[in-house]
Amino acid sequence: MSRMTPEADGPGPAVANTEQDEAWNGDDGRHWAEHSDRFDAMLARFTPILLEAAGAAPGQRVLDIGCGAGATTCEAARAASGGEAWGVDLSGPLLDRARQRAERQGLDNVRFERADAQVHPFPEASFDAAMSRFGIMFLADPAAAFANIARAVAPGGRLAFLCWQRPHDIEWTVTLRSVLARFVDLPEMDMDGPGPYSLAEPRRSRDLLEANGFDGVVVESVREPVSLGGDMDEAMDFVARMGPVRALLSKADPATRTQALDALRDALAVHLTDDGVRVGSAAWLVTARRD
Ligand SMILES: C[S@@+](CC[C@H](N)C(=O)[O-])C[C@H]1O[C@@H](n2cnc3c(N)ncnc32)[C@H](O)[C@@H]1O
Repeated sequence: MSRMTPEADGPGPAVANTEQDEAWNGDDGRHWAEHSDRFDAMLARFTPILLEAAGAAPGQRVLDIGCGAGATTCEAARAASGGEAWGVDLSGPLLDRARQRAERQGLDNVRFERADAQVHPFPEASFDAAMSRFGIMFLADPAAAFANIARAVAPGGRLAFLCWQRPHDIEWTVTLRSVLARFVDLPEMDMDGPGPYSLAEPRRSRDLLEANGFDGVVVESVREPVSLGGDMDEAMDFVARMGPVRALLSKADPATRTQALDALRDALAVHLTDDGVRVGSAAWLVTARRD
């Protein structure tokens, strides 16, 4: 069921993922937008891996799904000079950042649109490649979404995306959760519904893609550290403000909160390197061909 989201400048796009739409246009989205440079730095090691897998080349048309603040879209636009990179995202605040970034970088072959990738009527067979850096796990109906994306990709075109592995296989998540669990009750993680781990099971991605217009699915493990900050203070400032950390600690009394953050600082201190605070993480790189 889709609905139209009203926007100040007229009717908005059709949106099926209303909960995600609210989250990414509310506190979560504003937080990401405000700290978009920090989030980009966090995920920077994954970007060249995704770009290479998507294979964007001069003259090609590339779709970036859940493009956020547009770091990967701008990279794709550079790789596809003479072609076009098109970033879509639900989040108005993040798209504002993306447009500013493209303008700052003087790119004239990039465009951004507020759209729900699951239902947006992309022009058919109009992209050589579709890609996503951790923007494709938030879909209420992933089968419908992959079918919609498949329709947008030209026959013989490519899909490449990164999604997180199971949380207990991600050192950064294990570190964070094991510290916080000493101070607050942690909710069960939702592994099936829309959220960071919905595609953590490779079989799920494979089945969804093969049933919805893609072929030649390959799932590869990518282990790269996430960067949390240039030094301990920057890392702690970033981590303490992250949505889930903030939400969990907001339920604790001030003394417990301080103890939890001190314990987190101790746990992260062992990950301080000459390149800042870097903790191991694990993603799946999923690639497929349009039938
Ligand atoms: C974890 S962020 C990743 C952003 C970006 N790809 C990056 O690497 O910085 C997930 C993004 O997916 C977007 N998103 C979630 N569901 C979406 C949907 N159905 N259609 C389009 N974008 C969506 C969110 O608004 C958010 O910007």
